[in-house]
Amino acid sequence: MDPIQNPFSPNAGSQPPELVGRSTVLEQARILLGRIKLKRSEKSMLLTGLRGVGKTVLLNEAERLSRKEGYHTILVEAHESKSFGSLIAPYLRTLLFDLDRISGVSNKVKRGLAVLRSFIGTLTMTVGDVTFGLDVDPEKGSADSGDIEIDLPNLFVAIGEAAEDRNCAVAILIDEIQYLNQKELGALIMAMHKIQQKQLPLVLMGAGLPVLPGLAGESKSYAERLFNFPDIGALTKEDAAIALTKPAQAVGVEFDSAALEEIFRLTRGYPYFVQEWGYQAWNLSTTKRITLQIIKDATAEVIPRLDASFFRVRFDRLIPSEKRFLRAMAELGAGAQRTGDVAEILRAKINSLGPVRSRLIAKGMIYSPAYGDMAFTVPLFDEFMIRAMPEL
Ligand SMILES: Nc1ncnc2c1ncn2[C@@H]1O[C@H](COP(=O)(O)OP(=O)(O)O)[C@@H](O)[C@H]1O
Ligand SMILES: [Mg+2]
Repeated sequence: MDPIQNPFSPNAGSQPPELVGRSTVLEQARILLGRIKLKRSEKSMLLTGLRGVGKTVLLNEAERLSRKEGYHTILVEAHESKSFGSLIAPYLRTLLFDLDRISGVSNKVKRGLAVLRSFIGTLTMTVGDVTFGLDVDPEKGSADSGDIEIDLPNLFVAIGEAAEDRNCAVAILIDEIQYLNQKELGALIMAMHKIQQKQLPLVLMGAGLPVLPGLAGESKSYAERLFNFPDIGALTKEDAAIALTKPAQAVGVEFDSAALEEIFRLTRGYPYFVQEWGYQAWNLSTTKRITLQIIKDATAEVIPRLDASFFRVRFDRLIPSEKRFLRAMAELGAGAQRTGDVAEILRAKINSLGPVRSRLIAKGMIYSPAYGDMAFTVPLFDEFMIRAMPEL
C-alpha cells in the first residue's frame, strides 16, 4: 500500500498514531501537575524502562499536558559526555527570560538570573553563548561553590521562587536521565527535596533506563520519598492489537487476527517493534487486508533492518571484550543474569570482569535491575547478539 499513507511510526521519540496502554501513567502526571500548581505536595516522576518502550513519547506527552495546565516547560536530553549543569543552563536562561518578560518588575526573577549567572561561573565547559546576553551580575555566594550538590538546589529554589512570584509554575523534563552521574543525580534529588520543603511550584519529570539501583546507599530511601518510578514496559496483547488496528481501520485497512498474533509473538508487545512490523507490513501489502503471510514476508525485511539500525548502532560502539561479555550474557537468555554465570561461560574470574561490566553500564547497554544482577537495556538484544556473533 501507499507508503506515503503509512500511519506507523518506527522512529525514536515519534508520536505513535495511537498511544495505547499508558492512561494510568498519564493520569498520574495530570494529578502531579494539578497538585503542584495548587502547592500541594506530590512526588516527582521518573519514568523508567528499556529502550523503545515509549518513554520519550510519554515525556513529550507530559510536556504537552504541562503546557495545557499553564506551566512554563523545559525539556532536555542528558548526554553521556556533557555535564548536566552545562546542559541545562541555557534552557534555564530562556525560562527566566520568559518569566522576566511578564509585565511588571519582579525582584525574584532578577535574583533568579543573578543566581544562574553565578552557577554558570562554576561550569568548566565553554558556555560562552549562555553568558552572552545574560547581562546581570552574579549573586556572590549563591550556587557558585562548584559543588553541584549545593549549587543545583540553590539554583532550583531561586527559579521556583521566581515562578511563584510570577504566579506561574515550572516543569523541568529530563530525558535519558541514566546519563547523569551519581553526583548529578544526587544534586537533583536534593534540589527537589528543597523545592518540596518550600512548596515551590516546580515539578520534575524524567525518563530513562532504570536508575533506582544507581541511587546509592542512603540517598536511595530518601529518593523513594520524593519520586515515583513508574515502570514503562511492553504492551499487553490487547493493547498491541489496538496500536495496530485502530490507525489502520481509520483508512479502511484490516489486520487478520492470525497476523496480529504473529506480530505479538515476534515483538512481545515492545512498542518500537510493533511500529516496525506494522510499518513494513503496510508497505508490503497489496490489498487492504493484512494477512499472516504478509507478516511473514515483513519479518524477512524487519529483522535485517533492525539489525542494521536499532541494534547495530549500539553494537558498533563496543570493543571486543564488551561484545564477548554481551554474547556470553545472551547465551544465558533474555532475563537478568549474574556476573558469576557470565564469568563461568567466559572462563574468567569474576573480578576481572568488573571493569567491562561498568563500561557496559556507562554505555547504557546493560543495567542492574537488582544488586548483583544485570540485564540488557534493549529488548530482544540477546537474540540479536546470537545473530551477530553466532560463535561464542
Ligand atoms: N504507547 C504506545 N503505543 C504504540 N506505540 C508506541 C507507544 N509508545 C511509543 N510507541 C512507539 O515506540 C517507539 C519508541 O518510542 P520512544 O518514546 O522513542 O521509546 P524510548 O524513549 O522508551 O526508547 C516509537 O516508534 C513510538 O512511536
Ligand atoms: Mg527515548
